[in-house]
Amino acid sequence: PLKRKRTYKIIILGDSAVGKTCLTSKFCHGKFPENPESTVGLDFREKNVQVANECIKIQIWDTAGQERFRKSMVPHYYRNVHAVIYVYDITRKSTFDNIISWMAECELHNPGKQIPAVLVGNKRDVPPHLREVHSHVAMSFAKLHEMEFFETSPKD
Ligand code: GTP
Ligand code: MG
Repeated sequence: PLKRKRTYKIIILGDSAVGKTCLTSKFCHGKFPENPESTVGLDFREKNVQVANECIKIQIWDTAGQERFRKSMVPHYYRNVHAVIYVYDITRKSTFDNIISWMAECELHNPGKQIPAVLVGNKRDVPPHLREVHSHVAMSFAKLHEMEFFETSPKD
């Protein structure tokens, strides 16, 4: 009998210009966009992945970081979400400090639910003197909030 493919909805959250669209695009299409525009409302991408002999479909909801482009979309982002990816930019400390606000928004829309989350520090390709968030600081934060932590660069 044909089994229906399981689908998981993952939302990607974080301040504007941390690289959410670039990460999503690299993961789903293997390409780093040259001139990404700020996301308006939502970009929706999918990818099939093999997990323990099962092919599952991952739906990535690439959300807008800019408040004026989110507004009415916010409840849609959080409906039936399976996991959350919080992204900050390692060259801008404010984007790391704001992760706590993104977590609060998620909690507000899914009160009491323990939604699996990962923390991602993006743009790790930049030269060291531009770094404003040290890995060990982010790692402790992630540990405290029971998240996995990764540093990434869809660019290189
Ligand atoms: P919003 O849609 O406004 O929320 O922004 P976003 O988080 O989707 O950011 P986006 O992916 O559009 O990227 C913003 C800028 O960061 C672009 O100029 C990218 O080229 C740059 N960028 C993204 N990823 C990386 C990276 O890994 N390294 C470097 N150096 N730059 C990156
Ligand atoms: Mg975007």
